[in-house]
Amino acid sequence: MNIATPPDNPARILDLEWGFAKSAALMAAIEVGVFDQVAKGTGTVEDVAEHCGISLRGATSVLQAMAALGLMAQENGHYCLSADAAQYLVSGLPGYLGDMHRIFSGINAQLWPQLPKALRSGAPVMDLFTSDDASHWDAVFPFLEAVCAPMAKAVAGYVAGLPISAPRFLDVGSGAGFYSCAVAASAPTAHITCVDQQDMRKKLLTSLETTQNEGRLTLRLGDIFTQDWGQDHNVVLFSHLLHGFAPDDCARLIAKAEKALAPGGTLIIHEFVTDPADPETTPIPALFGLEMLMTSHGDAYPAAFYDHMLTASGFSATRTLEGPRGATKILLADRLSTSTTGDE
Ligand SMILES: C[S@@+](CC[C@H](N)C(=O)[O-])C[C@H]1O[C@@H](n2cnc3c(N)ncnc32)[C@H](O)[C@@H]1O
Repeated sequence: MNIATPPDNPARILDLEWGFAKSAALMAAIEVGVFDQVAKGTGTVEDVAEHCGISLRGATSVLQAMAALGLMAQENGHYCLSADAAQYLVSGLPGYLGDMHRIFSGINAQLWPQLPKALRSGAPVMDLFTSDDASHWDAVFPFLEAVCAPMAKAVAGYVAGLPISAPRFLDVGSGAGFYSCAVAASAPTAHITCVDQQDMRKKLLTSLETTQNEGRLTLRLGDIFTQDWGQDHNVVLFSHLLHGFAPDDCARLIAKAEKALAPGGTLIIHEFVTDPADPETTPIPALFGLEMLMTSHGDAYPAAFYDHMLTASGFSATRTLEGPRGATKILLADRLSTSTTGDE
């Protein structure tokens, strides 16, 4: 075992202990509009205090803290944004990630203090994943859309690149339809089927209405376990779906995907994937696993879990779709059997 940090140096432990304060300070700075104001104003404490409606003392502290976190620099009393803050934390720009503060205050601040309870019981403490309270998803979707855009583009590129004139794409647990929208844009001849529960209807219709008039979109609203998915799809997508389910239910969904695919068709799994052999390379997936402990019967599973389950269900070994660097991975596996077994 190689643990390089000297045991007499607590800096790393203390830094972890202060992790919550980094998040909380960033979320507060976003919420009161500090990044927007530094981007468009003079970058002085007075300017930020006046336009964000906060105290001079508060503006001084928050600007210092954001500079200490590397999100701003200061020269002669004028703050400016770091390159990544300028790209991702200024509202209105494509890729804006500032809606993360809604998840922080709306969900994380209630959820994470309950982790000890979930650790003791091994059971969820909040029914977030399958909740039919659409307000959870209203808070999550703007942030997810921004985070997922590069991955959605990679999935859409894969579908558009298939040597099939009108590929059939099935998006299971499609949520707001970000991936289907990206496929609709990149593959204008694709036929798209979305399956999700009833409360997603409005979001799906809103997101995908541009494709409806061409008869390219089928919405199947209901429980993904009982809903008919149709057949002969060339690509089935499970994006951020399987992490919400226990292994038995993952196996049921993978078996159902195998039946819904045309022979040679591809199942794409987009997920937080842990690496138990090299855990420090996947900290966000491992933390996401704790979130799943608190909210579902699922987990952030390792690649070997998917590989084993897919090969046992009639798929090829998994391969990775090279996409943008991030905390998630896109795994692909092809349906091997040549017989069409029909839908469930
Ligand atoms: C984490 S979201 C992922 C949404 C989308 N695939 C994405 O990556 O942005 C999971 C989705 O699965 C849907 N879902 C979960 N369990 C379901 C069930 N039993 N039946 C229908 N939909 C379900 C939820 O409604 C939600 O839209």
